Amino acid sequence: MQQYIENNRDRFLNELLDLLRIPSVSADSKFKNDMLKAAEFVRDSIQKAGADKAEIYETAGHPVVYGEKIIDPKLPTVLIYGHYDVQPADPYELWNSPPFEPVIKNERIFARGACDDKGQFYMHIKALETMIATDTLACNVKIMIEGEEEIGSSNLGTFVKEYREMLKCDTILISDTSIIANDVPSIETGLRGLTYVEVEIVGANRDLHSGVYGGGVANPINVLCEMIASLKDENGHITIPGFYEKVGELTTEQRDALNAAPFDLEEYKKDLQINDIQGEAGYSTIERTSVRPTLDVNGIWGGYIGEGAKTVLPSKANAKISMRLVPHQTDDEILELFTKHFESIAPASVKVKVMPHHGGLPYVTPTDSVEYKAAELAMEESFGKKPIPTRGGGSIPIVALFEQELGCKSILMGFGLDIDALHSPNESYGLFNYYKGIETIPLFFKHYAELKQ
Ligand code: BES
Ligand code: MN
Ligand code: MN
Repeated sequence: MQQYIENNRDRFLNELLDLLRIPSVSADSKFKNDMLKAAEFVRDSIQKAGADKAEIYETAGHPVVYGEKIIDPKLPTVLIYGHYDVQPADPYELWNSPPFEPVIKNERIFARGACDDKGQFYMHIKALETMIATDTLACNVKIMIEGEEEIGSSNLGTFVKEYREMLKCDTILISDTSIIANDVPSIETGLRGLTYVEVEIVGANRDLHSGVYGGGVANPINVLCEMIASLKDENGHITIPGFYEKVGELTTEQRDALNAAPFDLEEYKKDLQINDIQGEAGYSTIERTSVRPTLDVNGIWGGYIGEGAKTVLPSKANAKISMRLVPHQTDDEILELFTKHFESIAPASVKVKVMPHHGGLPYVTPTDSVEYKAAELAMEESFGKKPIPTRGGGSIPIVALFEQELGCKSILMGFGLDIDALHSPNESYGLFNYYKGIETIPLFFKHYAELKQ
């Protein structure tokens, strides 16, 4: 198996580079055709890997690619999930090389989607090819690669419900998360949920002269800033009534275990070029970024932002606000609490509107399951070190839905690193990580099949 990977090393990389050349940005309709091109690329590569079936399924949004290799119905079935869509590459001027013209520099692949998630799901297709070619596949494999993860997977729920029988499996394996470091392997045992909203504050019916009206009429930008500022208190606690009501607190042992993971605060600050960190009082940085909920403004606009100065009292101000959720918060409940509170704190001098975007539930997986053990053994074998269980701060909304609809747990065996710059300019993925993934995935199948017996 190792020999096969070695013999095909360059081709495995070149194929990924071809995939990275397709600008499959799900958020921007200008790339609609490239989304289809990427889906076709993925379908063809699943087919070429030796699957019995590989097809494109239309949805109300971007298509889903699904394939399978069923070797024996009596063997356990693993469903692989990933996403071929990527985040927009903006701002382009901050990239050192064009985002859709991948380059290799310092043993890293630079391109949008290099890690999130093209580099990571393509490892599975190459691992599948390797197992089929070397006749070592020990489980049935189903593989579903979607095109709307970065925009909230809003049509995938319907797909999963409709094709529940086809997707039936014993466990789900996903590589779309990170490890602590290349010499500190880890497995994420949780993801945060998400509530994402857009808000609009409207004052007067038109933009006004800020000298003539200024001081006498509400400025929606000022009002919006005050409202946003009031959403957190001096301890970094979110002030929305009921926001923490369902938040599950960790036991002292769980907190200690979480905080025992290697974390160097000085390195963290140096990497981000910040003089200090901030966050909710009473919690460590690891906790703040994994098991505690958050509220962040992701964008804010209004008024005059062109060249020079314009003395205007704008009529409107907007912001995009997201909240990361932890067990047992739900996105619907938090949306309701946020909306009620935000409307209630708006002064009578303005009108307020809260428009929901997408959401998703948080997720946790136990570390004593067969699938977790299989991932642990696989990584231990390939990295030479037992992986540490961690809790992830990011969100993959479909994972909680998989549990509801398919009744099985997902294993987040990701191979990314914090330095991969997901969603940022100059996203990259280490060659080490790409090949380590291709090497580790077959070991997961081997251990899973053995443990499942
Ligand atoms: N792969 C990420 C999620 C992730 C990254 C989890 C790193 C753990 C570690 C995924 O593609 C992503 O970006 N998800 C979005 C959610 C979505 C609804 C836009 C996120 O977390 O913002
Ligand atoms: Mn991803
Ligand atoms: Mn992402």
